[in-house]
Order: sequence, then structure tokens, then C-alpha cells
Amino acid sequence: MFGKKVSEGDVLRALRQVVDPDLHQDIVSLGFIKNLKIEDSVVSFDINLTTPACPVKERMREEARRAVAQLEGVREVRVNLTAEVRPHAALDRSALASVRNIVAIGSGKGGVGKSTVAVNLAAALRMSGARIGLLDADIYGPAIPLMLGHRQQVEIRENRILPAEHHGLRFISMGLFVPGDKPLIWRGPMAHKALQQCLFDVEWGELDYLLVDLPPGTGDVHLTLAQSVPVTGAVIVSTPQDVGLVISMKTLRMFQQTNIPILGIIENMSYYICSHCGAREEIFGHGGARHASEALGVPFLGEIPIDTRIRRQADTGVPIVLADPSSPAATAYREIAERLAAQISIVNYRIAPLRIEEVSM
Ligand SMILES: Nc1ncnc2c1ncn2[C@@H]1O[C@H](COP(=O)(O)OP(=O)(O)O)[C@@H](O)[C@H]1O
Ligand SMILES: [Mg+2]
Repeated sequence: MFGKKVSEGDVLRALRQVVDPDLHQDIVSLGFIKNLKIEDSVVSFDINLTTPACPVKERMREEARRAVAQLEGVREVRVNLTAEVRPHAALDRSALASVRNIVAIGSGKGGVGKSTVAVNLAAALRMSGARIGLLDADIYGPAIPLMLGHRQQVEIRENRILPAEHHGLRFISMGLFVPGDKPLIWRGPMAHKALQQCLFDVEWGELDYLLVDLPPGTGDVHLTLAQSVPVTGAVIVSTPQDVGLVISMKTLRMFQQTNIPILGIIENMSYYICSHCGAREEIFGHGGARHASEALGVPFLGEIPIDTRIRRQADTGVPIVLADPSSPAATAYREIAERLAAQISIVNYRIAPLRIEEVSM
């Protein structure tokens, strides 16, 4: 029935038709194809993606399956999706060798939902299978321990700080060093030292993404971060009422001045869905962040609705992404997390294009 025997070369040639829509290159040249086997006209291979949170993985799997299934002599195609987050090119030279990407999360002002975004994105990336750390660098208002429902003081072993671990996320916060509700007062040099300790003296272990929740605005902590470690990129959280987004834009410019690429803008509290009738209301207007990102040529990562359950879940220590993964709010966070992961892969690819696989055709 199958006269022609299919070869590895035939399969790879067919797979060259499948292009990664973010990296704009075919999946063979990108070195994604691993473990290619042909047995009894059954072709199996892995597609090793750059992130487990890849937004287009099912599409690539299907395109790859179809491209190979068309070949003569192929009875069955088995595509296995794997992922390996590629490290930022400069990171292996730093003291944080086990952390592949450091991602800053900033905002022009406080109260825009930056910490809520940080914990929910962390949870969404974790659910996709990525190894996640969260550094609460908002030394003036550390919120992460409350939002993750874990307030035990940190443990120190052999002069190394062990990160707290909860919901599968490793995290560290000034709130874990200071007992009770003591106010935190920091002078510049202290803030600098504290952030450096949180980066270098913490036993982070292997992480794909370390998300850093920055204090609002611009300041010492941002500079310390930019000067201490190679940051893959920054995310800006904004609200629609942030007039013309002027304040957020200042933050954006500060990142650009310190050579930190902007991974994208998120519009939080973008719209409200009435829990009784399902009607959508745009309390503060909507779409400002999208327009601003278009004007500035930076990616727009998405919109998050105002939802009382987002606040309630943050207050009870279980982010909505974990508490109710199929809710519209959780879906919004998850889609943003996927777009963010794709942007991180794009930035890393621009700095150091992936090695082209040596293949015999
Ligand atoms: N999309 C949202 N819908 C409803 N409440 C939200 C939303 N995002 C954040 N909040 C709430 O707004 C308050 C401020 O959020 P927070 O993440 O602490 O802001 P920031 O870190 O920017 O200061 C918190 O009470 C939080 O639960
Ligand atoms: Mg905060």
C-alpha cells in the first residue's frame, strides 16, 4: 500500500513550511524539532518551543502534523510538544546563573493593580509549566505575601535566604523580613542593599522567569535593578483613567533610558461586566493603553476587567487564576501571560538568534 519510504529529509523539508508566527522563522531552522523517528511509516517528533506558555502551540502542532501527513508513505504523525525557556543572553555571566529571565513589572503610580497582575501572571505562567519566582521589590508597600496567603518569616540557611514557596511559586518580599505591621522606612542606600540581597542572596534555584514587582513610578529600586542584573524586559501596568497615560509613559521612558526593552503594556480595570445582567460597562473609558502602545510602537499585552472576585481572591491569598481558572478574569490573565511569554522569547531571539540545527537533508 505504501510504496515509497519516507525519509528524515522529506519530513524536515515538509516541516520547513511551518513558521513560528512570533519569531518569523520556520521551526526546523529554529532548531525546534527533536527526537525525529520514523518507524513503520509512523513519524514522531518533538517540537521544543521557547516557552510552555506559547500562545500558538496547538496551531503549530496542527500545522506540523498536517505538513508531514501529506507526505507519501506516512501512515501516522505523532507530534509531542515540549518547551525549554531560553535564557537571556547576558544572564549566564551574572551571579544569577540559574534564573533564565528577569522581568520587571512597573507602573506610573500605585493602586493600578500592579501586584495583582504580578501574582496572577506568575500563577498563569506556573500553570503552563514554567518555573516561576516572584520578587516583591515594592519596599514601600509589599503586598505579595498577603496576595499569596503566606506570611511566615523567611528561613536563612548557611547565609543564604530560602524563598517562601506557596501555590508552586517561589517568592521573596520585604514583608517577610519585617514582622507584623511595622511601617517600612527606607533610605536610598538601604533600598539598594535590600534589593541586591533579594536578587543575589536568595536561593532561587532554577527559574524560567523571575517577575519583579517594582514600586510605583521611577526611582532608586528601578536603577538598582537595571544596574545589578540584565533584565530581559519590563511590563507596564496602566489603568484607562491614567490621563493620556502620561504617568505610565514616564515609567516607560525610564526603562528605555536604562536599556530595558518594553515587553508590553497591560490595561487593568479596563471594563466592568455586570455580575447580574452581563452587560459590559466602561467605567473609566477604555482602550487608552492600546492606543498609547500603538502610538509608541510597543506591544499591547491585553485588558483585564474590573471584577470584585479579582480583589476578593487577592485578599484571601489565592489569586483568581488559581481559584477559578475558567473565569473570564482568569482567562484574561492567562492570555496576557502567554503574550508576555512570547514577547520574552522575541526579545531573547533578537539578542541572540537561536542556533540553527545541524540537519542532514
Ligand atoms: N482588575 C481588578 N478588579 C478589581 N480589583 C482589582 C483589580 N486589580 C486590582 N484590584 C484591587 O485593587 C487594589 C490595588 O491593587 P494592587 O495590585 O495592590 O495595586 P498596586 O500594586 O498597583 O498598588 C487591590 O485591592 C486589588 O485587589
Ligand atoms: Mg503593589
